[in-house]
Amino acid sequence: MSKRTAVVTGGIGGLGTAICVALARAGRSVVAADLGSNPERVARFEHEVDGHDIRFAPLDVSDFDACGAFVDEVQARHGSLDILVNAAGITRDTTLRKMDRVQWDSVMNVNLDSVFNLCRHAVDGMSGRGFGRIVNISSVNGQTGQFGQTNYSAAKAGMHGFTMALAREVARKGVTVNSVSPGYCETALVAAIPEDIRQGIVDKVPVGRLGQPEEIARTVAFLSADDAGYITGANIPVNGGLYMGF
Ligand code: CAA
Repeated sequence: MSKRTAVVTGGIGGLGTAICVALARAGRSVVAADLGSNPERVARFEHEVDGHDIRFAPLDVSDFDACGAFVDEVQARHGSLDILVNAAGITRDTTLRKMDRVQWDSVMNVNLDSVFNLCRHAVDGMSGRGFGRIVNISSVNGQTGQFGQTNYSAAKAGMHGFTMALAREVARKGVTVNSVSPGYCETALVAAIPEDIRQGIVDKVPVGRLGQPEEIARTVAFLSADDAGYITGANIPVNGGLYMGF
């Protein structure tokens, strides 16, 4: 069997690079889809993943037609798109009373519409081939809500509703759809939180520290394995115990 092809949106930086590397180590051919508007960042990424079967492809995940063209290109070049990890995400934190329409729309477009845009174009191929793994990177803040994140918490909770609905639609086609809900990890998003607020959050984490991107990536690799076919519609929290739901 030829190598399975994985697409990771938000593939550069944050959790994305660690997910790309974990999937490549699991024997996948990986396409890191990201805006790529900063050539230095792209060059750093290419250096970091040198030696792995990972290539960068520019994509604006909020553009429905661009996502369609991208999926077509991946399928033409690699033969199939087997694993889709929706990890592209941004924050525009502020309290609702100060939030403007642009801050709301940009978080919805990048974090939630992107999941529709990619899945809508990828799911027919996966269903037709009888194999697919979709992993949506949600957040603990979609489960608990977070002060200053009505936009982000709504988008992240929405991702899991989408996950469960699509999981039902494609369960008989060999396609699984799951969410992973990371807690606070060592990423640029979290580094941007004011120091005192960040420390206050870390103090509430039972494990007592931020998560490592690799700790999220290993969960994604687990869910996208060939023998993970009986896990679907699930949300796997990886949050150091910050939120323990039932
Ligand atoms: N709970 C209760 N009250 C809070 C609070 C909190 N967590 N944070 C601030 N407040 C209070 C402030 O002290 C202030 O009180 P006063 O008016 O009495 O002074 C009031 O609420 C309003 O505060 P601001 O005017 O400063 O509010 P703001 O609109 O400027 O927004 C904020 C502040 C930017 C949201 C800031 O609170 C913040 O950065 N919070 C952290 C948000 C966060 O955790 N984001 C996660 C980013 S990482 C991520 O998202 C990845 C992931 O998935 C985990």
